[in-house]
Amino acid sequence: MNRTLAILKPDGTGRKLIGDVISHLEKEGFEIICAKMVFMNRKIAEGFYAVHKERGFFNNLMDFMTSGRSLVMVLEREDAVNKLREVIGATDPEEAEEGTIRKKYAESKQNNIIHASDSEENAEKEIKFFFPCKELIENEM
Ligand code: CMP
Repeated sequence: MNRTLAILKPDGTGRKLIGDVISHLEKEGFEIICAKMVFMNRKIAEGFYAVHKERGFFNNLMDFMTSGRSLVMVLEREDAVNKLREVIGATDPEEAEEGTIRKKYAESKQNNIIHASDSEENAEKEIKFFFPCKELIENEM
């Protein structure tokens, strides 16, 4: 078993797709270990996506990620990082496989509904970014 971070972005929460996306993830065997609604401010969005700050799309991405609430989730299952990438599909929904979350729901490369950690190492960093403390320690909540 391992863990990864998923973020249902403001396009997903705004279009009332929380239930559909969670249901899709649960059917794929993911367990939600921890979750919270976050209305990101610029500082949080910039911190989370710092790796992309030199990219041409960064400013638009910041406007998008601060435009509404996101549902941030820690998900667990066997091979969670790779499996979640497979289940959500390619960054650009036009390139995503049929049946993936982005193919079903996303509108554009930017408004692509969901984020998933891209490696075990980044999963650990991203989980700590949003859940730095005891929420994740089982039996202590
Ligand atoms: P995500 O998987 O969260 O990682 C970085 C995000 O930047 C990505 O999903 C998209 O929302 C956005 N993004 C990546 N590439 C582009 C692009 N070429 N144009 C616009 N937005 C992009």
